[in-house]
Amino acid sequence: MKFKEKLQESLKEIIPKDLLDKLPSGYAIIGDIAVFRYLNPEIDNYKKMIGEHLILIDPQVKIVVEQIDTVSPYRKPVIVHVAGEKRTKTTHKEFNTIFNIDLEKITFSPGNKNERNHLIQTVKDNEVICDMFACIGNLSLPIVVNKPSVRIYGVEWNQVAFDFLKQNIDVNKVSNRYFPIYGDNRNSTPKNFATRVLMGYFDVDYNQFRCAIDAIEKQGWIHYHSITPRDNLEQSIAIVEQARDGSRHKIKVKEIRLIKKFSPRLHHLCFDIFVEKY
Ligand SMILES: C[S@@+](CC[C@H](N)C(=O)[O-])C[C@H]1O[C@@H](n2cnc3c(N)ncnc32)[C@H](O)[C@@H]1O
Repeated sequence: MKFKEKLQESLKEIIPKDLLDKLPSGYAIIGDIAVFRYLNPEIDNYKKMIGEHLILIDPQVKIVVEQIDTVSPYRKPVIVHVAGEKRTKTTHKEFNTIFNIDLEKITFSPGNKNERNHLIQTVKDNEVICDMFACIGNLSLPIVVNKPSVRIYGVEWNQVAFDFLKQNIDVNKVSNRYFPIYGDNRNSTPKNFATRVLMGYFDVDYNQFRCAIDAIEKQGWIHYHSITPRDNLEQSIAIVEQARDGSRHKIKVKEIRLIKKFSPRLHHLCFDIFVEKY
């Protein structure tokens, strides 16, 4: 039975009939914390009951929160406590990788799990990768943990995220191959060294895209993420075209992959771009 049906069945005597359809259809789990995104305000009075019920039916869940927004260029989540202990720190395990995280301070998207797996499968032995938006190692730590010959340079400008990144590098015992760099990636991204650059952030500007090209040694991939209207890719591709104009290098979009759907119209896409330098 699906989560929503289970919830409807258990709460049908308690919640007014017309609200049963407004119950959430799913939740994400990070460590032992279940996260609801944007619960319907009409069920506000029943949130605590829903959270407590979730703790009863899912043994992995100790705490339930709601994420109502993500703010500032640091992507700081706005979290509301729903049920269980009042704690936002947890330890999440995925693809043999340990992530220590505080959900109130740092964003971690469970919806990017397939992308983390895709990167582990795609990256070749001995690659050198630059993660320009490293956060706590969300996209890059699983690569370095699962690919013993790969080295990563991760740039992060938020001190809180950077401290978690360093902690996670230590806890995963990869400090000899994961090198954290504190600073704005517009002036802290090393040049001419990488086989692959990760750009897991939605407000990338032209300067940052140039830095990604500069980071590539001779040839390699840029994985550029963007939120794009399904029927209008031009806006996202504009930055690639701008970089291509007046450049000596070959810069080609080889594939556009769907990471997840935000709404029927808005999609989170990843543009796989191959760069050959001349
Ligand atoms: C959305 S998070 C990364 C999420 C990750 N890609 C994932 O899959 O979950 C983006 C990170 O980039 C960092 N960031 C944003 N602009 C930056 C900049 N100019 N220089 C360095 N880090 C930056 C933010 O602080 C944040 O930690």
